[in-house]
Amino acid sequence: MSETTRRQATPRHFLMCRPTHFEVSYSINPWMDPTKPMDHQLAIAQWERIRDLYVDFGHQVSFIDPVEGLPDMVFSANGATVIDGKVLLAKFRHQERAAEADAYQKWFTAAGYEHVLAPEYVNEGEGDFLAAGERILAGTGFRSDPGAHEELAAFFGRPVVGLTLVDPRFYHLDTALSVLTDDLVMYNPAAFSEESRQTLSELYPEAILATQADADVFGLNAISDGLHVVLPEAATHLIGELRDRGFEPHGVDMSELLKAGGAVKCCTLEIRR
Ligand code: ARG
Repeated sequence: MSETTRRQATPRHFLMCRPTHFEVSYSINPWMDPTKPMDHQLAIAQWERIRDLYVDFGHQVSFIDPVEGLPDMVFSANGATVIDGKVLLAKFRHQERAAEADAYQKWFTAAGYEHVLAPEYVNEGEGDFLAAGERILAGTGFRSDPGAHEELAAFFGRPVVGLTLVDPRFYHLDTALSVLTDDLVMYNPAAFSEESRQTLSELYPEAILATQADADVFGLNAISDGLHVVLPEAATHLIGELRDRGFEPHGVDMSELLKAGGAVKCCTLEIRR
């Protein structure tokens, strides 16, 4: 890709959940420390900022009602995987989040989706499953069961590329890799097994590689519409790389949501027609 590559945004439909009941009251990943202070008003403002950006870019944004007692529900990316208008629901690894699956099932059913599957194997939606053009990249290692990958391939009828995560801080695929266009990704090589690193370098020889510093501030937990890339502002190296490749990066402060181990992508479920 040359520095003059002309990027184009395509319209998107996102599902988000307002962090009304967001808090860090348990710990299911290394970022979560319930004894640490968290500014709830600031968390809401940070979430509103990304919502406003999506609206400014012209995307459709839908909302699912937050449920009291489900503090991680703001991370709507985990609620399902939606491709070709078909919905593979989540089945959460941890009991603390289990009831979120019912809320998403109700939302999709009420919204008129007809192909809605409640899975047999544990999968945490787009936390681990990322559509990239025709293929689906599927993470495992911490949350999604490897058996979920076959279920995913069978339900959507698309090729699935399994990737193994090895660093507990990057426990979902969307904390280690971000799909920028149908055939371009950015990722943190250190978060993957040797075999998966090999797979990624073969599939994406042009990929943007994150530094450890980018990864540590959740720079890979980003949303791209093909032109605009919304990501944590502290990922300064990635922001420069994105600009060099013709993207329009938009850095945002996600300090409060990060205290639960989530950032931009985690708060955004893409509904693909
Ligand atoms: N506290 C949540 C959990 O550990 C954060 C989920 C982040 N979501 C994501 N798509 N990576 O499950």
